[in-house]
Amino acid sequence: MTHTAVKATAPGKIILFGEHSVVYGQPAIAVPVSQVRATCTVRENSAGTGILLNAPDIDRREYLSAAGENDPLALVVRRTLDALGVDAPSLEITVTSTIPIACGLGSGAAISAAIIRALGEFFRRPFESQTVSDIAFEVEKIYHGTPSGIDNTVVAFAQPIFFTKGQPIERLTVGAPLTFVIGDTGIKSPTYKVVGDLRARRTENPAAFDPIFAEMGTLARNARAAIERGDAASVGQLMGENHAILRKLGISHPMLDALVGAAMDAGALGAKLSGAGWGGNMIALATPDSAAKIGAALASAGAKRVIKTVVR
Ligand code: PMV
Repeated sequence: MTHTAVKATAPGKIILFGEHSVVYGQPAIAVPVSQVRATCTVRENSAGTGILLNAPDIDRREYLSAAGENDPLALVVRRTLDALGVDAPSLEITVTSTIPIACGLGSGAAISAAIIRALGEFFRRPFESQTVSDIAFEVEKIYHGTPSGIDNTVVAFAQPIFFTKGQPIERLTVGAPLTFVIGDTGIKSPTYKVVGDLRARRTENPAAFDPIFAEMGTLARNARAAIERGDAASVGQLMGENHAILRKLGISHPMLDALVGAAMDAGALGAKLSGAGWGGNMIALATPDSAAKIGAALASAGAKRVIKTVVR
């Protein structure tokens, strides 16, 4: 028994602490960003001739059978149908997203999660969040090389998480709401490139990098405590320290540093790049009163897009 049409969505995400060090086993903190979302609609293909993939945002409309072996959309659909044990249905799968691509907001993982959820709902076998995360992780591995799993986990669970690679998810309790302003440099930066570059440098000289990653792990643990007790001033301070370390690691970009500076000048409690770096987004911790001023400062410093989100 199936539905005639179902829709599922998954949010974007930002990493508050611990990007990159999380790949090396240190803890990190990520939160969903519900203002931007991926959406998937699944309905019966009335033509009854297999699985039609529609991605109007990228002008794509083709049959699954014509998609390459490692095509990301096709891969997630195939893996999900395998998990459901469904053979050769006739479906029309439409995917849209308001999450900008390749800028650290978790677009790929959110698209996967929306597809997995929608297919589960369509076949009346809704997946647990952990299963959504696990299937999305399979796809992440093909595109990101050595992903930690933080992106698929936060978008699948759609709640603040304290994440350590390979360990059960820990939900984060937020002591007092935190207002973030996200600024997009507009510079696309594929995660696998930055992660691959850092991995190569670290392989040459682990002794130079591992203590830095450990320091970032300590920042993430201290940040967790600060978030849980609702201490925004400390969270902001720790964000600044995290950004300084990421700069030292060669992960930042002059535009990211300029936006971080503009946010701090406009009164942010802290600011840092978020995600893979070399472009993409930065985040600033604001108060409900200072958010508009910080957003305006980011826009006049050249941010291509500004999003406000409140973490609870
Ligand atoms: O997808 P992004 O750009 O937010 O980067 C993911 C975070 C990294 O720590 C850089 C990589 C990973 O797999 O955790």
